[in-house]
Amino acid sequence: MNCTKLKPYLQSCIQNPQKTLPTVIDIRNPKDFRILHASNSINICPNDLHERLYELPTKDFPIILIFDLNFEHQNLNDSGVAIQKSIQNKLEDFWILDSETRNQKQFENVNLCLEKLLSRGWYVDILVLWEELGNETVEMYKKMNVLSSGDLYYTLYKPNPSLKKQIEKIETNIIKLKYPNFAKVSLNKLVENGKSLTNCTNIKETKLKILDIGCGVGRDLGYLATRKAIYSFKDTLVITGVQEQDKILVDWIFYGIDSLDFCLVKARALLYRLGIENTMELYHATINKSGSIIPAKNSRDLETSQIFKILKDCISKNSRMSEYKSDTNEILKDVFKKDINDLPKTFDMVVSIRFLNIDFIKKSLYGMLNKGGIFFVSTFVKGVEGAKSFDKPSDSHCLKFGQLNEMFSEMNYDILVDEIEFIEDGRPINTFVAQKL
Ligand SMILES: C[S@@+](CC[C@H](N)C(=O)[O-])C[C@H]1O[C@@H](n2cnc3c(N)ncnc32)[C@H](O)[C@@H]1O
Repeated sequence: MNCTKLKPYLQSCIQNPQKTLPTVIDIRNPKDFRILHASNSINICPNDLHERLYELPTKDFPIILIFDLNFEHQNLNDSGVAIQKSIQNKLEDFWILDSETRNQKQFENVNLCLEKLLSRGWYVDILVLWEELGNETVEMYKKMNVLSSGDLYYTLYKPNPSLKKQIEKIETNIIKLKYPNFAKVSLNKLVENGKSLTNCTNIKETKLKILDIGCGVGRDLGYLATRKAIYSFKDTLVITGVQEQDKILVDWIFYGIDSLDFCLVKARALLYRLGIENTMELYHATINKSGSIIPAKNSRDLETSQIFKILKDCISKNSRMSEYKSDTNEILKDVFKKDINDLPKTFDMVVSIRFLNIDFIKKSLYGMLNKGGIFFVSTFVKGVEGAKSFDKPSDSHCLKFGQLNEMFSEMNYDILVDEIEFIEDGRPINTFVAQKL
């Protein structure tokens, strides 16, 4: 781990623009962050870090942590204070010592505090001490895009890589079946960070419904909702309602179900941060042993104080939520639905990521997909030759090698993708995509 001050850090960003953007967490107070921060960083108060670890990428991405020694404004709880004080002591020691005395021990001490802060095992690569910079310097760095102002949320987490890899192929295949008069469909324009699309003419929207089963904290739905793809046509066979110069904007309508209300609360908080809180319906529902979707029971560990902590930022932005500030049940009405009769009966895509229910696939899936609809699954698989063995997830939550291919070959589907890939710890994942014919 390296320790540095803001200016040398910004210089290093300019001199060595990395191919992949780093994960930068700024733990200063939100007001100071809004005034000025390193571009592509997110602001997390040390008190909230534990609840917001799900917004970080996988642990193989090193973290850069920006902090200041301005603790009194932060209104920290006891553990936040302890962490901050501890960092403060270690770093004050570190920066007043000359280079000869900056021995390994100081680094280790700082590192220990950070390990405590990032208690789930992320690797902290660089520790950056915030410093005040003169106006001219700030303007210069802003022009170079390494400093920014405002509180636009920057997405640090990565969506499921297979979904990201396959989504264009999936959308193209859905469009081809929807508009069979066009021989060729190709991606015309893609926006992946939630910015609006400008300068596009002749756009027709095609509304498609997507259901994420076992959606967890909503990262993949969040990714898709901040992504917009426009497709164009070539080689018209017969002119129908759509003309060759027309372009199709794929406009997904999002639904997610999860049996853990706790996850759905986090999902709603993430959607708020992404600025897309109203684009999604979340359902507190379980897929049972017969493969049916039924309302879920409340989780015993969803405590009022936790809900408020996770939704803190959303409550301040949502007038209904702030009106019902002390009524958990009312607040939760804005988080998820419990009545599964409100859930549409059919979808254009069903995704199942790191979640598996074979009975759902056997008994419910076909009836829930529209013609041309896609089933996307990406989850752990056992029995891959040469792959390392693993205990978690257990056998019942893993596919058997070739299992889906065998099942879907016998049904009325076109198999578009059947791939094995390995995640960072070496466990194999099967990505399988099939289209209902
Ligand atoms: C490993 S997580 C994956 C979450 C998300 N798809 C992702 O990849 O980040 C599995 C999710 O499935 C949910 N889950 C487990 N059993 C379920 C069931 N029977 N019905 C609905 N959701 C379930 C869990 O609550 C959890 O959020």
